[in-house]
Amino acid sequence: MLEKVSILPKDGNFKVLGIESSCDETSVAVISDGKLLSNLISSQDFHNIYGGVVPELSSRAHLQILLPLVKKSLQESGISLNQIDLVCATAGPGLIGALLVGLTFAKGLSYSLQKPFVPVNHIEGHIFSGFLMNDKPEFPYLCLVVSGGHTLLLLVESDTQITKLGSTIDDAAGEAFDKISKLLGLGYPGGPKIQEIAEGKKNNFVDFPIARCKNEYDFSFSGLKTSVLRFIQKEYGDASKISAKDISSIAASFQYSAVRALLNNTEKALNKFNVNSISLVGGVAANKMLRSEFEKVASKYKKNLIIPSLEFCGDNAAMIAYRGLKLHQAGIKYDYDFNAYASLSDYSFIK
Ligand code: KG4
Ligand code: ZN
Repeated sequence: MLEKVSILPKDGNFKVLGIESSCDETSVAVISDGKLLSNLISSQDFHNIYGGVVPELSSRAHLQILLPLVKKSLQESGISLNQIDLVCATAGPGLIGALLVGLTFAKGLSYSLQKPFVPVNHIEGHIFSGFLMNDKPEFPYLCLVVSGGHTLLLLVESDTQITKLGSTIDDAAGEAFDKISKLLGLGYPGGPKIQEIAEGKKNNFVDFPIARCKNEYDFSFSGLKTSVLRFIQKEYGDASKISAKDISSIAASFQYSAVRALLNNTEKALNKFNVNSISLVGGVAANKMLRSEFEKVASKYKKNLIIPSLEFCGDNAAMIAYRGLKLHQAGIKYDYDFNAYASLSDYSFIK
């Protein structure tokens, strides 16, 4: 059951519908009078058998589930369609076919209701997802975005002032979890599987290296992935020969190195930039070890730490509705010719 937290000051009963369909989650949310009334998330678990998301199947599944989910979300909120004041949808980055389903639906709905439409950048949705919590980030804050497609360390000074300090130069953090999981035969999505199998295991079975990049705030996970692969080839020949106990220990050692890499750069930035809060967001922010290590760092630097609860870490429409509402309140207007986009560098306030 959703806790009805006030996420914005009361705003005269303004009602927002948010839609998210950038990858393998279809999600619909309703914000009314500053409160989140509904955040339904339908995950496409069937991709598991393919070892990753199949774009065409994802688009088709979004198309099937979106309308019933919108109806259910409105029903749960006790709001009728013609009461909606603003329609927001993720426009990118993401899988183009998947994005087009949510975006086209949102445009059609906004046009028929004659209510404004706001296309939302998915990563900006994650960046501000901490504001869905009771305890909110305070500007300026240091934000680490760790998702399946992106790893970004950012200085967030206002709703529209976001400076990129560093990003991954190869794989994203979530992608690294997914690839190592596949390598160990654990399946997709890899993050939760690695976390589960590594729980309670020692982190020092193997000392996997942490990459150093030219820009001290950048990340690199491809070397870590290669060293896991080389270790397996050298010690076992191939992954099918590893015992269950060693699989858990390798997973734990990998998780430790990945978490250390994320923490190292965050600490470097904390030493340099004077921020009021730290926020850890995105799908990988669900990771228990990462969350607990971030808590230690925040207390060491005496900073307020905001990590969204699990339903707001992975892809969700609440963060899209919230971000869309803030852009609308900032007076930013969008046309219906706005298109879906795949790259983060398009249509983003991240500089
Ligand atoms: O933000 P998200 O839901 O989708 C994207 O925008 O990419 O992130 C998905 C990523 C996947 O790579 C998944 O393996 C990872 O988040 N993830 C985790 C955990 N839960 C999800 N990674 C590590 N530990 C977890 N508990
Ligand atoms: Zn995401």
